[in-house]
Amino acid sequence: MLLTLPQVLSPEAVDYCRNQLLSAEWVDGKATAGQQSAQAKYNHQLPESSPIARALGDFILDALVQCPTFIAAALPLKIFPPLFNCYQDGGHFGTHVDNSIRHIPGTIVRIRTDLSCTLFLTNPDDYDGGELVIEDTYGNQSVKLNAGDLVLYPSTSLHHVTPVTRGARISSFFWLQSMVRDDGERALLYDLDQSIQTLASEAGLNHPNVVRLSGVYHNLMRRWADT
Ligand code: NI
Repeated sequence: MLLTLPQVLSPEAVDYCRNQLLSAEWVDGKATAGQQSAQAKYNHQLPESSPIARALGDFILDALVQCPTFIAAALPLKIFPPLFNCYQDGGHFGTHVDNSIRHIPGTIVRIRTDLSCTLFLTNPDDYDGGELVIEDTYGNQSVKLNAGDLVLYPSTSLHHVTPVTRGARISSFFWLQSMVRDDGERALLYDLDQSIQTLASEAGLNHPNVVRLSGVYHNLMRRWADT
């Protein structure tokens, strides 16, 4: 399931991040790429140990956990500390699949990457190219969102970023391990959750069908979730 979430960060929060990033030191993006993807990656990013990256990463995670749609869609168990990248001067990232297991630096924690996230920090009018193209079973999905919007997609997908031919495209990106490993099961839970929310707003939280369907949701979670 590919999902876009508008306005995860407000315009003020995006400005705050962009201002902080102005004083950061960028390095070659190959630093965090796997063997195959390093050959295809032409961009810059903040080092994983960068204090600015860590502080802004926490700022973004604080905003994300307050976003009910993100929680319902991702069912996050562990989230990799957000990283930041910049594409300009023809920078691009050829077709690749993200590494399956990521070690969180400075810890013994490893996460299985079930979902990949890109949070756009530049408005589309400010650069040309830079589309995130995700190969879906329904065909290629080209994603270029407003600053503050986020896309969530299965890390199993092949994807690439087209060359940025004008301006600079700055984004945050990260991965997460979901409590529900299987994308199909997670999509069913998300559909069920969203339907229950709609029904509850129309019929009330205590309507017998809302109560019964909520029971079904939680019993499926009990079957499918790891904690
Ligand atoms: Ni990738």
